[in-house]
Amino acid sequence: MSPEARSLIAPYLIEDGGLAVDNPASGAIIARVRDYAPGEVDGLVAAADRARPAWANRTAKDRAGILLKWKNLMMAHQDALASLATAECGKPLAEAKGEVAYAASFLEWFAEEGKRAYGDIVPTHAPGKRVLVLKQPVGVTAAITPWNFPLAMITRKAGPALAAGCPMIVKPAEATPLSALALEALAREAGVPDDIFRVAPTTDPAGVGQAMCRNATIRKLSFTGSTRVGKILIAQSAETVKRVSMELGGNAPFIVFDDADVDAAIEGALASKYRNAGQTCVCANRFLVQDGVHDEFVEKFSARISALKVGDGAEAGVEIGPLINAAGVEKVAELVDAALAQGAKTVVGGAKHEAGENFYQPTLVTGVTPDMRIVREEIFGPVSPIVRFKDDDEAVAIANDTPFGLAAYFYARDAARIWRIMESLEYGMVGINEGIISTESAPFGGVKESGVGREGSRYGIDEYLEIKYALLGGLG
Ligand code: SIN
Repeated sequence: MSPEARSLIAPYLIEDGGLAVDNPASGAIIARVRDYAPGEVDGLVAAADRARPAWANRTAKDRAGILLKWKNLMMAHQDALASLATAECGKPLAEAKGEVAYAASFLEWFAEEGKRAYGDIVPTHAPGKRVLVLKQPVGVTAAITPWNFPLAMITRKAGPALAAGCPMIVKPAEATPLSALALEALAREAGVPDDIFRVAPTTDPAGVGQAMCRNATIRKLSFTGSTRVGKILIAQSAETVKRVSMELGGNAPFIVFDDADVDAAIEGALASKYRNAGQTCVCANRFLVQDGVHDEFVEKFSARISALKVGDGAEAGVEIGPLINAAGVEKVAELVDAALAQGAKTVVGGAKHEAGENFYQPTLVTGVTPDMRIVREEIFGPVSPIVRFKDDDEAVAIANDTPFGLAAYFYARDAARIWRIMESLEYGMVGINEGIISTESAPFGGVKESGVGREGSRYGIDEYLEIKYALLGGLG
């Protein structure tokens, strides 16, 4: 971690005990920070609730100004924030710098959207009466965020919450509290009041999550993570009838049709699959490739995969960093080994990487069938399983045969086919001739067991606003 990065989080560092943060590339402990206990959640919430009215009563323009300062501070510290993200989550430095800009973009976007949280005056149903619709902040909010995007998954939630007038308490992933604390430090510098944005790292994520769900003052919980944990949080939030947004697991199909531009599909496939070593919810999880282009796609894609540079993300030129921990590597190895045992063939990779305990070789396997675990479960690693298909109906049937529905991708040229396939895919987001779809201006979210709610875009702020209807009578 760079000296500038360390100085950004210096006030949060402790010598002994607490939550120990390691670098997944080396396994070395790089920092220790305060470890919040579940019993501390109610105190944080009470403080947020006391600070809430003053924040909600500021003008949207005033809050926007503070969010823009926060965004500018993030960009001024882009290198330091990237260095922190690489050190604690392992992603290559160039990707981490990209994440800082992506994360900052949500603050700018929602600073603007906050000023446009318009209500309505509805044409009246009766003389002498007027129907008014107002949008008001939901109240205190909480976020539980993942390690794979330790900055962007926080600002994608905190941006709209704060812009709408809501305080937010964030429980970052145990693996990546440093980026979150750096965000808190910059928020303070930008003028966000202390109790309006608080980060609470913990070694007891289940306990803190449950305490958040049980606290009735928290009116909204936003979670990004696995479907398994999302279901637990939804159930726990039922006790207090909390609003929830859930951005959960995916099983993205990446379909290459016979009429596709194969070279463009390979660029898209590399970007989609190997970003963050395959550890994103929207990563291509399985490739469905039509008979006519199968062999060409496999040959060219495997040549590109073999050339990927693997190593510590802090080293120049590295394209594939470590996985987050040994359990992540074991899961990937188990899925690949199971596929091979069922008849799949390795074209590239297929084993752990010599760079260290948490590394797995960029891999491509062919001869994969839709019943194999490697295409039914989220891999979260740098592995491309290739399933061969004959026609459009078969591709759509395989693509939709999953409880998940976050992102899907396909490459084709025929306009009628493009519309038909796009409309048939049961997914919240579809990349057509594109492998990267994320942007602050588009609605991010899934259907089926991939979640509820949307983040980013003009819809993202609605998650933090209540609609109030007022009937104004006696107008003659
Ligand atoms: C995720 O993996 O959950 C987020 C990916 C993105 O925003 O692009």
